[in-house]
Amino acid sequence: MKMSQIPSRETKPPFRTTRAFIQKHFDEFLPIYPLFVDSGDRFGPEISNMIHQSYDGLKDGLHPPELVSAGIGGTYYLRDTSGDPVSVFKPLDEEANSANNPKGYDFVYSTADMITAGGGAAREIAAYYLDHPIGRRRVGLTGDQVLGFSGVPPTVLAHCLHPNFTYSNGYAYAMENYKKGSLQMYMKNDGHFGKKKKEEEEDDKEEEEEEEDEVPTGLSMEEVHKISVLDIRMVNLDRHGGNLLYKKKEDGTLELIPIDHGYCFPKTFDDCCIFKWLKWPDARRPYSDEVIKYIESLKVVEDIAYLRKFGFTIPDKCIRVFHISTMLLKKGATKKLSPFQIGSLMCKETENVETSSIKKIVDEAQAEADGLPNTSEEDFLNIVYRITEARLDEIPPPTT
Ligand SMILES: Nc1ncnc2c1ncn2[C@@H]1O[C@H](COP(=O)(O)OP(=O)(O)OP(=O)(O)O)[C@@H](O)[C@H]1O
Ligand SMILES: [Mg+2]
Repeated sequence: MKMSQIPSRETKPPFRTTRAFIQKHFDEFLPIYPLFVDSGDRFGPEISNMIHQSYDGLKDGLHPPELVSAGIGGTYYLRDTSGDPVSVFKPLDEEANSANNPKGYDFVYSTADMITAGGGAAREIAAYYLDHPIGRRRVGLTGDQVLGFSGVPPTVLAHCLHPNFTYSNGYAYAMENYKKGSLQMYMKNDGHFGKKKKEEEEDDKEEEEEEEDEVPTGLSMEEVHKISVLDIRMVNLDRHGGNLLYKKKEDGTLELIPIDHGYCFPKTFDDCCIFKWLKWPDARRPYSDEVIKYIESLKVVEDIAYLRKFGFTIPDKCIRVFHISTMLLKKGATKKLSPFQIGSLMCKETENVETSSIKKIVDEAQAEADGLPNTSEEDFLNIVYRITEARLDEIPPPTT
């Protein structure tokens, strides 16, 4: 193929390209298509820039992808031609419990309902798609307001090829070595709330300290509440402090940036949620009217239809959990309960007991449904809603 036949960058890869297209033109196109994005949608300027800059950086080759040491999965910073990080690529075959996990977590943990290996990327993308701005559901990713209510960084599905990724069976310059994964905008930040690393001089090893319980200075109620809405709604099993970045604003307050949503939307409530913000004082204050209005505007049926429109296949079990978490958030907020009171129902009851109140409610509903003939999913959810309502009515309103 002559150079003149190569499609222009604006309309062809890395945008809206199918794997079949790349496959067809693999020999001619590979050197110039290290990354392509598989989407039925067009992107707005910020997301387009992120993709183009990542693409140009990969093509340029001076600042190749580099494995991030934090986290248990394979996470790579993609840099622009000047070397600044512009995006974060997480291949799905390098997630925990996957064969190509570069950190030795290829087959390690299994709790009651850990997300299936390889299911993280879809969840990362779903979290962005569903985190829509106040007053306006996203109709696509073209919008001017790139960040939604909770500030999940823009995340799209991408395919990327580079020898720096982890190939446990060896790397070859081949179509099948394109990695599929989530491509998320790199968010400039001033740190996170996770474990701090200290240098061990004697053996030159890094050791992690425990996560601090201290309340960070500069937090505002609005920022804490925006994260709580996201985590309760999406049933986040993994909001430890390392998955919450912060950026210092000019007025000295902190903007919170939620990352890493690969353990949201589980299939059951068997695992308890982890909410870093639960112990922060602002979590004990009820939501403002504006936030309650946002929460009331959430509609699971529309959310599911929206995800399906973009090709997500969502297991029925995840849909059930999503219905229940959204209902819990709505009912709790309407009753003027605090994020602490609502969120506590999804977390461990005590250090030693691995059961949350919401799991108990669902189990109770299941037992009741099992005693009835022909219970539909709607009937089951109505039983859950009734039991939840009664449970929430027992909780006194917050005192602060
Ligand atoms: N969008 C982003 N912007 C800036 N830095 C990021 C972003 N996403 C990830 N990182 C950095 O990469 C690290 C690893 O990413 P991430 O937490 O998503 O990986 P993980 O392996 O899924 O982690 P975990 O062990 O929490 O499951 C983060 O701790 C953070 O330092
Ligand atoms: Mg993480």
